[in-house]
Amino acid sequence: MQEKQNKSLKNKAAIGIFDSGLGGLTVMSAITKLMPKENIIYFGDTAHVPYGSKSKKVVTNFALGISKFLVRHNVKLIVVACNTASAFSLETLKKYIKVPVIGVIEAGSVMAAENTKNKKIAVIGTEGTIKSDAYAKEIKKHDKKIKCFSRACPLFVPLVEEGWLDNKVTEQIIKIYLNDIVNKDIDTVILGCTHYPLLKNTIQKVVGKKISIIDSATAVAFEVQKLLKEQNLTNSTGKGSLAFFVSDSPEKFQKLGSKFFNKKIINVTKVEI
Ligand code: DGL
Repeated sequence: MQEKQNKSLKNKAAIGIFDSGLGGLTVMSAITKLMPKENIIYFGDTAHVPYGSKSKKVVTNFALGISKFLVRHNVKLIVVACNTASAFSLETLKKYIKVPVIGVIEAGSVMAAENTKNKKIAVIGTEGTIKSDAYAKEIKKHDKKIKCFSRACPLFVPLVEEGWLDNKVTEQIIKIYLNDIVNKDIDTVILGCTHYPLLKNTIQKVVGKKISIIDSATAVAFEVQKLLKEQNLTNSTGKGSLAFFVSDSPEKFQKLGSKFFNKKIINVTKVEI
């Protein structure tokens, strides 16, 4: 009886998701669409964003602090929605955090490796993600013959934060960043950053329709669903409650977040970690 009650409590526990700021809401949006009954706690480290230009040590310290915060809220699983934190800190988190931890890089890499026909993939992301080479390493695990071309696109995050998703300047900047890799005859591009899905249409316009764009958010949502099923942790009777925590300005997060989440955001609390 007691065991059954504990089990049900575990199923009802929330999924924890974190990112350096707003961008991880694209991953949360994919998860809520696929699993609307799951309760979710989101943490956006808005006091320390951007992670993309910071060192591995600094990002890993933030990621550990946030994961411990989520564990104190009894989450049953943690999704590292931030690509930079996934690239830098996943191994450390898996070592020190007592609930399962899923990053975004493996799911996106598998999806891209399965999609490419000519075995040429481009990866775009923050400076940290690209320097870590995490996507290329993961893709090679899947298929050694695949060639990866990567490019850091540091201006994309501020463009998205500014809401410049499809104007002429954005299109021009995308062209400058992607020209070289498009000329390598790639057939697949991985959007290796939480913010880039919002630029997907403009990127598609620049690279052309023949190139597939992989957005790892959906792939991660399927991975979360699979893991919950495997570990018997699915919440099939929940109400899908959502809570948001940030390390700075709840008002700004609430105002800009709806763009990433595709829904109005309420219930945002500022916390110190
Ligand atoms: N969330 C980050 C990522 O996916 C992008 C924003 C940042 O640099 O913190 O890499």
